[in-house]
Amino acid sequence: MDWKRIYTERTTTAAEAVKHIKSGNRVALAHSVGEPSHLVAAMVANREAYRDVEITHMVPMSPAPYAQPGMEAHFRHNSLFVGKTTRQTIADGHGDFTPCYFSEIPNIFARTMPLDVAIIHVSPPDAHGFCSCGVAVDYTKIAAEQAPIVLAQVNANMPRTLGDTFVHVSKMTCIVEHDEPLTELPPPRITDVEKAIGENCAKLINDGDCLQLGIGAIPDAALLFLKNKKDLGIHSEMFSDGVVELAEAGVINHARKNFNPGRAIVTFLMGTKRLYDYVDNNPTVNMFPATYVNNPYVAGQNDNLVSVNSCVQIDLLGQVCSETLGTTQISAVGGQVDFVRAAALSKGGRSIIAMPSSAANGTISKIVNFLDQGAAVTTNRYDVEYVITEYGIANLKYRTVRDRASMLIDIAHPNFRDQLKDEFAKRFNTHYQPGVKPILKAWA
Ligand code: COA
Repeated sequence: MDWKRIYTERTTTAAEAVKHIKSGNRVALAHSVGEPSHLVAAMVANREAYRDVEITHMVPMSPAPYAQPGMEAHFRHNSLFVGKTTRQTIADGHGDFTPCYFSEIPNIFARTMPLDVAIIHVSPPDAHGFCSCGVAVDYTKIAAEQAPIVLAQVNANMPRTLGDTFVHVSKMTCIVEHDEPLTELPPPRITDVEKAIGENCAKLINDGDCLQLGIGAIPDAALLFLKNKKDLGIHSEMFSDGVVELAEAGVINHARKNFNPGRAIVTFLMGTKRLYDYVDNNPTVNMFPATYVNNPYVAGQNDNLVSVNSCVQIDLLGQVCSETLGTTQISAVGGQVDFVRAAALSKGGRSIIAMPSSAANGTISKIVNFLDQGAAVTTNRYDVEYVITEYGIANLKYRTVRDRASMLIDIAHPNFRDQLKDEFAKRFNTHYQPGVKPILKAWA
């Protein structure tokens, strides 16, 4: 196949490419920092040509111009993971949210939500005409395989990541060359609270463990306390700059991974240019679609898999809400439950939900008797295992509901403990039992 001829023939401008989108189409955008902003800007500029185009994707890291006021007649947003820039459109009823596990999303596009158009963002082609999906492989590669029309932004700044990341130029309907820096996510602010939480997380992480780390200050804080560990590995939905630092220091080397040894397994990346440079052509980082990385039966084949994720609120039974503030959808399950279940399947695995004990400058307890009215249960009480705050560690798994409630009160913010003890007494017709000991598994 003369891929160079195909590449030349299909190379066009963004304005021409977006004319392939028709009213009523379902359009998937590449995920997160992989969103191709040049093509998205052209699509939005051409909005008068569209009615009811459904835009679907997961975490938006862009201003999401298609989901802003005034766009309602042209675009309808169907969010698979709500972010800062799409919360309002969903709260206002101009967009929708579809609950689904990250591990399922590529198959949803292939089966129940078939796509008309995939808008992807890739590295320049290699000698064989293959472009890498770079920082966002997740559902993006499968969307490109499934959609009859594929509009690709080719960007020299997109790293060529290795693994099952490649889309051949012959699959692309239009190719738009446009170099621009990838969106960078500055390192989160880590306060003493996050440091204390990170230190508690590190107590449950042993030499040789395989880690799944979510995004944000808490996973980064946990990494700060892993500098003296040895032979850590990564099998994670995503990772950020903190992993690069530990990999360069030799702490993360994947040496003891029993499954995919010697390399990190990941489905998307978010961070700074340092991360994007690190993963470029790096054989120690392999990226695959989320159907593989997040599938609990796949990830669970890693022995000693430790998952670290965060939440909004947890009730005294151990029901974890990670995605709503009352009835308002602020994020989604993402890979949280995929990895909580993977850790449960893993020989020697542990799952951690780690969070500050309070929110809103200490005025709200995140440990509550009842979840807020309308809150979604993300990780249910049968799946939850370790819960960590800056005040300690509770292992809820296979403990009575009263033991769970007592352990959670012990790690609640001191300002709220008396109130929680009163609520405990009313709820369980007995007094809270101080000092119930969590069972900390001593994995060898
Ligand atoms: N009551 C009221 N407000 C609360 C609250 C509570 N119990 N808990 C958090 N908030 C507020 C915060 O104050 C903050 O408000 P702001 O945006 O006005 O500052 C907002 O909700 C977000 O909370 P914050 O703690 O800053 O969020 P975070 O960036 O640490 O993310 C989750 C926490 C739970 C939203 C995030 O981890 C998530 O989306 N998890 C689910 C998906 C997941 O785990 N994926 C797997 C790994 S990628």
